[in-house]
Amino acid sequence: MPYPVDVAVQSRNSLARAEALESAMAMALDKVVIKSVLYTSGEIDPTRFPDLSPARLAGKRLLMSDDPRLQPMPKAPTLLDFFKHRFAPATHLLQSARLALKAGHDEKTVLACLLHDISVVGFIRSEHGYWGAQLVEPYVDEEVSWAIRAHQVLRFFADEAVGYSYPEAYVQFFGADFRPDPYIEAAYRKMRDHKYYMTARLITLNDVYAFDPSVTVDMEDFIDIIGRHFRQPEEGLGFDDSSCAHMWRTIIWPTKFL
Ligand SMILES: [Fe+2]
Ligand SMILES: [Fe+2]
Repeated sequence: MPYPVDVAVQSRNSLARAEALESAMAMALDKVVIKSVLYTSGEIDPTRFPDLSPARLAGKRLLMSDDPRLQPMPKAPTLLDFFKHRFAPATHLLQSARLALKAGHDEKTVLACLLHDISVVGFIRSEHGYWGAQLVEPYVDEEVSWAIRAHQVLRFFADEAVGYSYPEAYVQFFGADFRPDPYIEAAYRKMRDHKYYMTARLITLNDVYAFDPSVTVDMEDFIDIIGRHFRQPEEGLGFDDSSCAHMWRTIIWPTKFL
């Protein structure tokens, strides 16, 4: 079934409204925000360098601190602070983790389900499995980050032995003739023989888009599991000098000029 046309029109309209609101808010700032290339690449050709002419700055400075349009973050933010103040409603993640818990999977698998799409909800959608794994790598068992990295690839490949079929949603999203890129197929061939394959496969099994609207899941249900399996740095995510601290800082300050 194709993606409904009215949904496409609605999202275009709400995108236009959001852009108008965003530009009004940006005008009201006393600082100039220059969007990162990644924000606009595709909508505009990235080789068109942003205009930094003095006329455009109109006497204002460039934003190098908190963006007043975003919720303020604590000085030493925790994973829960990011869920609360930066991640889009994480219903899909909470529902996935709830399904994993209900199915009796171990706590590391539940955590992997809870975090599997944090890149989608808070950072970058394209290649989200890889970005998501990098975001959590220093803080979780390698089984968890490996599974998060692999789930993006494994979603494209059925494993009937465990009851995982190619997602009907992907037929709707990408068309019946879509085939994953060769680099995804190559990654899949390596991943299916990996010792943590089944952990990643369990993410895909609990990674469903059809939710029961009568069920609400509370982050509170996962606080203990996070406490036991996510090594929260004392300095806060973004400030512990880890290999991915800069990525968390970018989520805190996505509009900083440098
Ligand atoms: Fe995903
Ligand atoms: Fe997902």
